[in-house]
Amino acid sequence: MSHYAVFGHPVSHSLSPRIHAEFGRQTGIALDYTAIEATPAGFAQALDAFAAAGGKGANVTLPLKEAAFALCSVTSERARRAGAVNTLTRNDGQWHGDNTDGIGLVRDLTARLGLDLRGRRTLLLGAGGSARGVAPALLDAGVSELVIANRTPERADALVDLLGEPGRAHSRYWNDLVNEGDFALIVNATSASRDGLQEFSLPFALAASRTLAVDLNYGEAAIPFLAWAQAAGCRDRVDGLGMLVEQAAAAFELWHGVRPDTAGVYATLRGKDASLVTAD
Ligand code: ATR
Repeated sequence: MSHYAVFGHPVSHSLSPRIHAEFGRQTGIALDYTAIEATPAGFAQALDAFAAAGGKGANVTLPLKEAAFALCSVTSERARRAGAVNTLTRNDGQWHGDNTDGIGLVRDLTARLGLDLRGRRTLLLGAGGSARGVAPALLDAGVSELVIANRTPERADALVDLLGEPGRAHSRYWNDLVNEGDFALIVNATSASRDGLQEFSLPFALAASRTLAVDLNYGEAAIPFLAWAQAAGCRDRVDGLGMLVEQAAAAFELWHGVRPDTAGVYATLRGKDASLVTAD
C-alpha cells in the first residue's frame, strides 16, 4: 500500500481523499490518501514526518503552495513558471514539485464544458498560490490579455514579473478596475469568501453578456463571486469543482502512470446537476 496525502490549513473539508480513493478503485491501484493539517510554520516538519513514514506523494492546498515550491529539490517547468507547487512526488529521497492546477482548470473549461479560451481578454483576481498555478496555463490556452489584480498589489506585480510576458500580462490596482472595460473571462482566485467575505464588490462594467465567470473555489465559498457574476449578467458561471477533479487526475497520472476517468467522479461529487454551475 502506498501512502499519499493532502496538506492544507484548513484541510478537513478537502474532497481530495475521496477523489483519489475513487481513482484508485477505478484503476485497481492500492493506495491510501489522507488529509494532514499543517500550518505554514509547521509544514516543513509535517512533510518531513510524512516522508519518513513512507509517504510517496502529496497534494498541497491553501495556503501552502508557495511554501511547497520552496521545499522541493526539483521542480517542473510549469511549477517554476507559477512559483507554486500543488503536487509533490518523492523520488530518490527528494521532493519533486509540479503544478497541476492550471492544466486542471483548462481541461475542465475546454474538455468538459467545451468552452474556447482563445482570444479571451481575461481578468485574474488574486495573486496567491492558486492564482499562480492557473496564470501560466491561461496564457498557454491562448487568452489575448491577462490582467491581474490583487488586494496587495506587490504580489500581483511579482506574479506578472514571473510570467515574463509583459505584452500580454499586466497588473492593475483593484480600485482602478472600474476603468478597465469588460472581460470575456473573469477568474476569482482569491480566498476572500473562504475567509468570511459574504458579498463580492466589483464593478458590473467588468462583465458583458458573453463573459465566462470562474471561481476556483467550490461549494459555499464560490457563492459570493458567482452571485456577483449572475447579477453582473455573465452568461456562463462555473465553480472550481471540475478543476479540483481534473487537477487530482493529473496528479494521479504523475504518481501512478495511469489517467483515471474524471466524468463519473465529477458527477458523483456534483450530485444531480452536472451542467454549468450557477449561483442560484
Ligand atoms: P490560495 O492558495 O488559495 O491562493 P493564498 O496563497 O493564501 O491562498 O492567497 C489568497 C489570495 O486571496 C491572495 O491573493 C489574497 O490577497 P492578498 O495577497 O492581498 O492577501 C486574496 N484575498 C484573501 N482575502 C481577500 C479579501 N478579503 N479580499 C480580496 N482578496 C483577498
